[in-house]
Amino acid sequence: EELLQLAEAMPKAELHLHIEGSLEPELVFQLAERNGVKLAYSSVDALRAAYAFNNLQEFLDVYYAGMSVLLKEQDFYDLTWAYLNRVHQDHVVHVEIFFDPQAHLERGIPLDVQISGIRRALEQGQAELGISFRLILSFLRHLSEDSALETLELARPFYDQLDGFGLDSSEQGHPPEKFARVFARCKELGFRITVHAGEEGPPDYVYQALDQLQVDRIDHGNRSMEDEVLVQRLVGAGLTLTVCPLSNLKLCVVKDMAQHPILSMLKKGLKATVNSDDPAYFGGYVNDNYRALIQHLPVTRDHLYQLARNAFEGAWISDDEKEAHINELN
Ligand code: HPA
Ligand code: ZN
Repeated sequence: EELLQLAEAMPKAELHLHIEGSLEPELVFQLAERNGVKLAYSSVDALRAAYAFNNLQEFLDVYYAGMSVLLKEQDFYDLTWAYLNRVHQDHVVHVEIFFDPQAHLERGIPLDVQISGIRRALEQGQAELGISFRLILSFLRHLSEDSALETLELARPFYDQLDGFGLDSSEQGHPPEKFARVFARCKELGFRITVHAGEEGPPDYVYQALDQLQVDRIDHGNRSMEDEVLVQRLVGAGLTLTVCPLSNLKLCVVKDMAQHPILSMLKKGLKATVNSDDPAYFGGYVNDNYRALIQHLPVTRDHLYQLARNAFEGAWISDDEKEAHINELN
């Protein structure tokens, strides 16, 4: 109880959040009505009932269907503004969010519509809620590297409105090395990069992310724990892992929360952090993730501080900003 209060009240950073995955069923229906989009579900409850997944792909099918209601700049704004207001309640003070432009370009939504709506909300969140932000363009790994390269080129007019690049969607069969050229180009352009690796994919995909892409962070990284040599490399490099406990549970990456590896990760010296991934689909926002950990694992005060500190240390902000946030924790 005391631990839960501490976790809830701590100022926090969220580093692994797909903005399209914060689309709550209520907003899906509201936007569907506003945009005249026909849904395959008759009610909010019917849609929510579809949120049961056995693996990543089953989730992704629902996730890509859900975002079909996002058409206008205002829709991207409303989505992002709802997320920021929600996490403000959780005392989140810094967010680094992904968006999936290729999933919207495929539906004919121009990149400037997407970026402008998302950023208008982010800037308002900074001004009115005091939430600082970074925006990360994430490539879809089930598509070709050429499609990613085209998207990077299309984003050229918006480079000053982007802070980094990511890689998400179906992991198995789409290893990081498939995107070596596009991420080399991102690095040449001076951007930071972070890729999903070791969620469902093997430890080798995490090695590829390190050796072939030179990533600045790893998203998930759970399966690194199968390889002690890899763990020691990640520890040595001080690489941040953006871990997502409720996501791992809902996508069956872990059998139950009591078996979640996050405390073992901390014990080994890995810079694990707590994130919500796709909160509308996985049953909760950052504080809900902390609550699940506290309920099912022998979490201590020190663990909570370490997790919160790791997020600020792994954030793409200045050393002074990191220090200021970390001082607020103590
Ligand atoms: N993994 C891979 N791709 C995704 C995820 C995820 O957890 N969420 C949204 N796209
Ligand atoms: Zn993710």
